Amino acid sequence: MKRPILLHPDPRLKKTADAVSDLSDELRRLADDMLETMYDAPGIGLAAPQVGVLTRLIVLDCVKEEGEAPRPLIMFNPEVLASSDELNTYEEGCLSIPEQFADVTRPAEVEVRWIDRDGKERVEGMDGLWATCVQHEIDHLDGKLFIDYLKPLKRQLITRKMQKLKRERARV
Ligand code: NI
Repeated sequence: MKRPILLHPDPRLKKTADAVSDLSDELRRLADDMLETMYDAPGIGLAAPQVGVLTRLIVLDCVKEEGEAPRPLIMFNPEVLASSDELNTYEEGCLSIPEQFADVTRPAEVEVRWIDRDGKERVEGMDGLWATCVQHEIDHLDGKLFIDYLKPLKRQLITRKMQKLKRERARV
C-alpha cells in the first residue's frame, strides 16, 4: 500500500527517529509499503520519517541501468561504521523536496551496518550513488535534509519555493 510522502517544511522531518528494538510484522509491512511508495514516486531512497513514522528505517534501490535487476534494500537501524576521506559530489534531490536539486559533497565510500527484513545483521561497503543515497537516507533519521548542507540563502530559497508548492497543492 502506497503511503503519502510528507513535504518539507514539516516538523516531523526535523525530528530524530527512534531505534527499532523489536522487528514486528507491522514494521515489515511499513518497509514493504515504503518500497512501493519509493518505486512509484519514482525515487531511489525513502526514510520512514518521510511517511510520518519516526522509526529508524530506510529503503533504497540505486540500480539505475535499464534492464538491470532491481536491488531493493530494507534497512532497520542503519548506521555508518566508517567513511572514506575521499569525497564525492552528487546532485541530490529528495522526495520530500520535489523538483529541487543541489550539489552535496559527502564521503565517497561508507561501511554500513543494519538489520535486514529477516532480522539479520548485515555489514556492507557502499560507493558511488549507493554511498550518497544511504547517507542521505540516514540523515533523514536524524532530522537532517540535504538542503541543510547548502548555504543559508540557497536553503531559504528552496524552502520558500516549497511553501509555495504546498499552498498550491492545498488549494487543489
Ligand atoms: Ni530525502
